[in-house]
Amino acid sequence: MRLIRRAAWAAIAILGFLVVGTATGWLVTDGPLGTREDRLPAIGGPFSLTDHRGKPVTERDFLGKPTAVFFGFTSCPDVCPTTLARMGAHIDALGPQADRINWLLISVDHERDTPRSMAEYMTLFDPRIVGLSGTEHQVARAAESFQVQYRRVPLEGGGYTMDHSASVFLLDAEGRFAGTLDYEERQDVAEEKLKLLLARSPDSSKVRRGLF
Ligand code: NI
Repeated sequence: MRLIRRAAWAAIAILGFLVVGTATGWLVTDGPLGTREDRLPAIGGPFSLTDHRGKPVTERDFLGKPTAVFFGFTSCPDVCPTTLARMGAHIDALGPQADRINWLLISVDHERDTPRSMAEYMTLFDPRIVGLSGTEHQVARAAESFQVQYRRVPLEGGGYTMDHSASVFLLDAEGRFAGTLDYEERQDVAEEKLKLLLARSPDSSKVRRGLF
């Protein structure tokens, strides 16, 4: 009986480990392009938003290339601009290869972020980064697709800020979760992950030319 109880506790511990591990992404141990995506909770999925040029887009518009996507908002004081500046540094480091990745910011602040405010904000960063915004419902749906948590936090003296998760999600060319770039990640480690993502994604321009 005691053995059974011990086995039950061990099972619960392992389950907890798996839940926490998959939720935080560090169980994708075989590199950023873990092959276990079928067993992971789905990260990456349907969304319907508007890009900062005013064009309606869905997740299907970004298939065919791997994607690096970050959730944030234009009034963010530090995490978002830092992350977007780092994205710009990755783009510079990758050179022409950077064009083979979709670089996205999805706003979690539906009240303030419109295609117009996103367009203005995106001028501060690499022009290849595309800002997406949407209605309350569209933003909630997109965040749900990536299991992103965000929260409106009223500020003393008026106004509000948004709490939001700070990871950059990596998706392969078919839209499957392929890992994260974490906020504290070293630049060289992040760039290795991006290179690996590219190495495992066929070059779509070559696919079109029939080289694959
Ligand atoms: Ni932020």
